This record gives sequence, structure tokens and C-alpha cells, in this order.
Amino acid sequence: MKRILSGMQPTSQLHLGNYLGALKNWVSFQDKQDTECLYCVVDLHAITVAYEPEVLKKASLEIAAAYIAAGIDPKKSTIFVQSAVPEHSQLMWLLGTMAQMGKLQRMTQFKDKAGKNAERAGLGLFAYPVLMAADILIYKATHVPVGEDQKQHLELTRDLASTFNTKFDIDFFPHPEPVITGPAPRVMSLRDGTKKMSKSEPSDMSRINLTDDADTILKKIKKAKTDPEPLPDSLESLEERPEALNLITLYAALANEAKEDSLKRFAGESFSVFKPAFAELVIESFAPITNEMNKLMQDIDQVQKIVDSGSEKSRDIAAPVLRDVHKIMGLSAL
Ligand code: TYM
Repeated sequence: MKRILSGMQPTSQLHLGNYLGALKNWVSFQDKQDTECLYCVVDLHAITVAYEPEVLKKASLEIAAAYIAAGIDPKKSTIFVQSAVPEHSQLMWLLGTMAQMGKLQRMTQFKDKAGKNAERAGLGLFAYPVLMAADILIYKATHVPVGEDQKQHLELTRDLASTFNTKFDIDFFPHPEPVITGPAPRVMSLRDGTKKMSKSEPSDMSRINLTDDADTILKKIKKAKTDPEPLPDSLESLEERPEALNLITLYAALANEAKEDSLKRFAGESFSVFKPAFAELVIESFAPITNEMNKLMQDIDQVQKIVDSGSEKSRDIAAPVLRDVHKIMGLSAL
């Protein structure tokens, strides 16, 4: 039996990177036999940076609505909010006693987010990967579908599972496998093909959000950085052209075809031909998702019901695992 666990932060709107790096792939797991899927909105991770409580609450439900709108079926997969399952935080403390400061200091996401001011960064931001490990291990998840940027965090999760098993001489936690097989595991910024598309990038022109309207999408794509050369007919010729490679990768991912096939379609054409076609494809792909999301957001109580029931199901799995961990570690019975 495989158990899939993954999550997204409700820090702002989801973007094309979240969709093509992770969410689109999540949908594909829920129809597989012998596979149980748990998809979480990780609001406890979102409070490691500045935030507004009222905005966060709504954003958590919006992300849950985006999961559903993108094709996660609450009848097949469990959709829930992290903070409604306190076992995540409880296991985090226990794993935190085994996590090495040196390893946490090497996490690139921490270095990026803390910036030059690491001394003033909060403990939560530093311990962020331990909470992520707890999210996964509290369900003894076997597979974790994510974008490439989460690989290092997954390595730390595996490391913590080994440390626990070795320390207590028990084969308790599985080693969760990262599944980085989304159609575009590393989506780059529209303004710089060497930087990841990210929610934290100040310029909104660098990303396409799931909720952008058609005009905004077209404007962002028209302004996307490219180069003056026409598109080539082979992938090798794109090696030194990161922006062009990124746009072709995204086109292919949305068209559900190989990059080579997308290139063949546009070989010899300039970006003034490619960009409107690409924008049309993005608009067409997002429209059913955003329409569905808007509908769901008008019935927010229904979304709340879905996550409440998902959180209850998740607790039923997490509570006995935490009880076992307490027993193994010599702590009081829960
Ligand atoms: P987050 O919220 O930053 O991103 C959610 C998912 O989107 C992927 N992603 C991308 N994929 C491709 N290209 C991009 N430019 C891009 N940007 C984001 C991420 O890899 C991720 O899969 N720490 C996690 C959330 C988390 C989690 C977990 C994930 C908390 N606990 C447990 C899995 C399992 C994060 O910050 O994702």
C-alpha cells in the first residue's frame, strides 16, 4: 500500500510553478490502485513569515478550493488543513530533538528566506523542514510528490526517519520517496530564466497566478523575457537559452506533449508568434480551474465541511502513530 502526502503553503495565490510542479501530478495519483492520497494546506508553515490572521484563514480555504478545482476529488483523496491536526506539531517537537542544527543551517530555502539577517530569523523559519518532516512521517507516508525545490527537505525527512529508527533500534518510519515527476518540476521566472518562479518574488510579472484573468496572463507573457533568436528545431539548441527553454517546457507541459513536439510546432518562428499561442494555452488551461474555484469560494461553508472531514480522517491516522512514537520514546501514554 502506498501512501501519498503533499502540501502547499497558503501564503498567496498558487502559480504556474505550483500547478505544473506539483498539483497537476497530485491528481494523477488518486486513481491508482493501492494508493491513498492525503493533500494538506500547510498553514503552520505559512506563519513562519509575516502574515495577517484573517487573510490566512481565507487563503487556507482558497488553496483547498484550488486543489478541488484542479481535480483533487474529496471522495478519493483526503484534503485537510495542517493546523487542524495537532499531531503534526507534536511530532515536530519530538523530531526536533534529533535534528542537527548544522544540517538545518545548510537548507537553501532557509538561507534564501532568512537572507542576510539570519540572526534575526525566527525559530519557526529555521525549524521549518522539521515540521515538514513531521507532516510526512506522522502518516508514515511512502511517497511525496513535489517540485524540485523541495528535494533537499525530503532528504532531511529521510535522514530524520533513519535517525529515529537507528536511535530506538526499530524499523518504524518508512523512508519517504520524493516523486519529482510533474510535467515541469522546476518552473522558472518569466523575468529571469535562471531563477525559480516563486510566490516570494516581489514582481508579480515574474509569475502567472492561477487566478490571473486572461488580459493579465496575456500581458505577462508578452512582457516575458526572451531573446531575439527564432525558436530552433532541437532541444539541444535551447541549452544556452534558459528563457526560451522555460517557455517551451511550460507549453509542452500544458499541451500534454513532449517538448520536442512543441518545438517542432514552432521551429523557425519568432516569439511574437509563439507568445500569443502560449498565452492562449495558459488561459484555456486555467479557465475551468478558476471558474470552478470561484464557484467553490461562493460556497465557502462547503469547502470548510470538506476540510473538516479531511482533518478528522487525518487525525484518525496520525493519532495512533503519535501514540506509538510516545511509547517508543519512553514518554507518557496519550
Ligand atoms: P510551496 O508552497 O512553496 O510549493 C508547493 C509545491 O509547488 C512546488 N513548486 C514548484 N514546482 C516547480 N516549479 C516552481 N517554480 C515551483 N514553486 C513551487 C513545490 O515544490 C511544492 O511541491 N515546504 C513546502 C510545503 C510543504 C510540504 C510538506 C510539501 C510543507 N509540508 C510536506 C510536501 C510534503 C513548500 O514550501 O511548498
